[in-house]
Formats: sequence, structure tokens, C-alpha cells
Amino acid sequence: MQVIETIAELMALRQQLSDAVGFVPTMGYLHQGHLALVKRARTENSAVVVSIYVNPAQFGLREDFAGYPRELDRDFELLQREKADIIFVPSDAEMYPPEFSSWIDVQKVTERLEGASRPGHFRGVATIVAKLFNLVQPSRAYFGQKDAQQAVVVKRMVADLDMGIEIVVVPTVRESDGLAMSSRNVHLSPEGRRAATVLFKALTLAQQLGRGGEKDAEEIRRQITSLIQKEPLAGIDYVSIADARTLEELSFIDRPALASLAVTIGRTRLIDNMPLE
Ligand code: PAF
Repeated sequence: MQVIETIAELMALRQQLSDAVGFVPTMGYLHQGHLALVKRARTENSAVVVSIYVNPAQFGLREDFAGYPRELDRDFELLQREKADIIFVPSDAEMYPPEFSSWIDVQKVTERLEGASRPGHFRGVATIVAKLFNLVQPSRAYFGQKDAQQAVVVKRMVADLDMGIEIVVVPTVRESDGLAMSSRNVHLSPEGRRAATVLFKALTLAQQLGRGGEKDAEEIRRQITSLIQKEPLAGIDYVSIADARTLEELSFIDRPALASLAVTIGRTRLIDNMPLE
């Protein structure tokens, strides 16, 4: 495994790889969710590149960029165990030199949900992902279902800009009580950690209602909203029942749909989602 910090080194190493390259972009502080992406990339490609970069451009002014957890040595150990080949850990100066002025703005699918709550977030994500794609030139890139809208945005960008990269979306990895793994879970207090299971409970209820034949999206929103409101530590940012492909809110469920939530527990904002069959 090689750990490199500069674009020049990455480009030189990339030139030596001729077979399929799998790429896993991350912001580090790796958990089993990230490792599931790396494991999948390992089985489908002859080389695996992982990037670790906490991208300032995707954090809003009042968001947790400075407090975002970082633990590089532990990340390297975990990636070594998963047999990743190249770990790219660039600095801000490397990724955003002072004259940097090009941004990727994916429209429509970025307008709702995370895009509405976090203005500029997807512009930052799309720009850094495009830049990393240009550097790594992967055959396939791996993203978690937990960030469902991010996967939709990246797929849109890859299709619109003819990037020719296969985007593989890997199922959410959960703790034993259902909480989706996230680097941000570390910020939860013990009471917050207990309260955070309300997201999984609410999404499970949405799935059960869907399986029971409920087609009225507003009724599902109402029931899961009232379940979350019973948890005193939880504050709802949004509750969405949307078209799984376009992320447009539905009033009637007549196509593949996605239930998604953003909920604040104390000062920690958590997101999660589940498909509705
Ligand atoms: O999902 C993430 O960790 C980030 O948004 C990504 C894709 C690494 C871009 O910074």
C-alpha cells in the first residue's frame, strides 16, 4: 500500500496501472460503511485507490468542518487490512491552489433535501469528485447508499459530462440497533446515541406502511414525523418521500420511492434513508 500526498505522485502511479481501477473517495475517519465500499472495489478491480480528504468546499459556514473527526493512522491501518493499493491524502493547497476558480454545478437533483438544507454543499461535492475522477481515472467509483442524494448527483454529473465511469452504490451498513454508520456518530452523547435510533425506527415504519399497501405519501410522512416528534432529543430538518430517481417529492407512491430523513440530535445532524417497495 502506498500513501501519497501530491497530484504529481498520483498521476505517475496511475500511469503504471493498465487494468480496472476501483476508486473510493472518502473524508477519512473510516468505519465499516467505508470498508464495505473498499471490499467491494477490491473484488471488482485489479487496483484500488482510496482518497482521504476533508473537502472544505462542501461544508457550510456554520457546519462542522473544523470539528470533523480525523484519525489518519487508524485509517491507514484499516485500509492496509483491506488491501487497498494507493491512498491519496492531499492537502488543501494541493486541491485548491490560490488561483482555483472552476466549479461544477449539478442542477435540479441538488435543489431539494440536503441541497436545500445545505446551500453550496453539492457544488463542493461535485467539484471535488470530478477533480478526483480526473486524477484517478477510475473504471468504477464506489459510494454509499446512506448518502443517497450524493450518489444521484454524482451519477447525473457522470452521465451529463460523459465521464464514462461506472458508479456503484453499496448498501448502508448499520449498527446492531439499526443506526446507520457515520463518522458523525462519534459526536453523539450516550443519550443522543440512544435517541439516534429514532431515524431507523421511522424509516422501518415507512417501509412497513409501504409494504402494507399505503400509497398516500403524505400519510407516511405524517406517521413518521409523529414518531420522530415523540423523541425529545430529536429535531426534524426534513422528512421526505420522493421519487428514487429524481428525488421529487411524491404525493402518491406509483413508482420506486425513497424515504429519507435529516434529523438533529443535540448538535449532530444525521441523515438516513430506505427504499420503499
Ligand atoms: O461522502 C463523502 O465522504 C464525501 O462527500 C466525498 C464523496 C468523499 C467528497 O468529498
